[in-house]
Amino acid sequence: MTQPALLHDASADASAAQRAAFAADVRAGLTHAPQKELLSKYLYDEVGSALFEVITVLPEYGVTRAEERLLTEHAEDIVAHLPHDVTVAELGSGSGRKTRRILEALCKKRPTSYYPIEISRSALQLCRRELGDIERISIVGYERDYLAGLAEVSQNRSKGERLLVLFLGSTIGNFGRLAANRFLREIRSMLAPGDALLLGTDLLKPTPVLVAAYDDSIGVTASFNLNLLARINRELDGDFPLDAFEHVARFNPDARSIEMHLRAKRDVTAHVGAAQLTVSLAAGETIWTESSHKYSADEMPAIADGAGFTCSHQWVEKEWGFAESLLVAK
Ligand code: AVI
Repeated sequence: MTQPALLHDASADASAAQRAAFAADVRAGLTHAPQKELLSKYLYDEVGSALFEVITVLPEYGVTRAEERLLTEHAEDIVAHLPHDVTVAELGSGSGRKTRRILEALCKKRPTSYYPIEISRSALQLCRRELGDIERISIVGYERDYLAGLAEVSQNRSKGERLLVLFLGSTIGNFGRLAANRFLREIRSMLAPGDALLLGTDLLKPTPVLVAAYDDSIGVTASFNLNLLARINRELDGDFPLDAFEHVARFNPDARSIEMHLRAKRDVTAHVGAAQLTVSLAAGETIWTESSHKYSADEMPAIADGAGFTCSHQWVEKEWGFAESLLVAK
């Protein structure tokens, strides 16, 4: 694989384009009828990413600990089921903490290249700090959208080099089910037969447990959600009165997802300068900011099959309810 520079930089032009895209998405989402919405990817600016790191250690949010237990206990076994000599690309590395076990197990066998792909520069820096001490690892971060980054990693590899894509943390749950299937097919289109995808999914569990996980008792998730309006105020010249909104987490049984909304406590009118937008909400109206879909371990083989993979192995954590599925490209 040709080694690119240590961090692929977004240029000033790119950040102006990102701001314009953010403004356009805010405009489209807040004029969407009947349900106003904002894309959940915008929850993760520097403040949002830091708040998310706190969420992962909250007593009510078992997702991250469950996956860490699973990866700690089964890392050697997972690695034993991978193709030989894999190069690792991770979609959304976050802090990198959950990936450590897999990378350590791989590097014990042979030197391994690791390409974290993240739109958040601070997360990439955190990831490098967290994982840089692993012996025989080479880390090159890609500050990119998942698919753009994966396309580059896949194209740059040398002939015959196998790829392992990590998509952990149940981030797939933040896509709608159809979008998730489409996304898996897009990943597959960048892989060669025999390449693999390790996919983490949070499993369906009782509604009160789910609601508590997304509406914790000390309000971190509420702050994480509200920060989206604060971010619009900061970056897009907005004037949302934050005290006029409250965080809501509710289970949608049809979609089998937990939804986060921001509900107006009173009638609100706000402006977003960079989006040339004036938006009004009636008291009680919500802005839908995120969905987190929950899966059953049993449905993964069919999902894999529909996207051009075979689900070759699964590791399930039963205490919280989390599955790691190894999908091999057909
Ligand atoms: C990143 N993602 C998997 C988290 C989830 O559980 O859906 C995001 C999150 N939102 C609120 N709490 C956690």
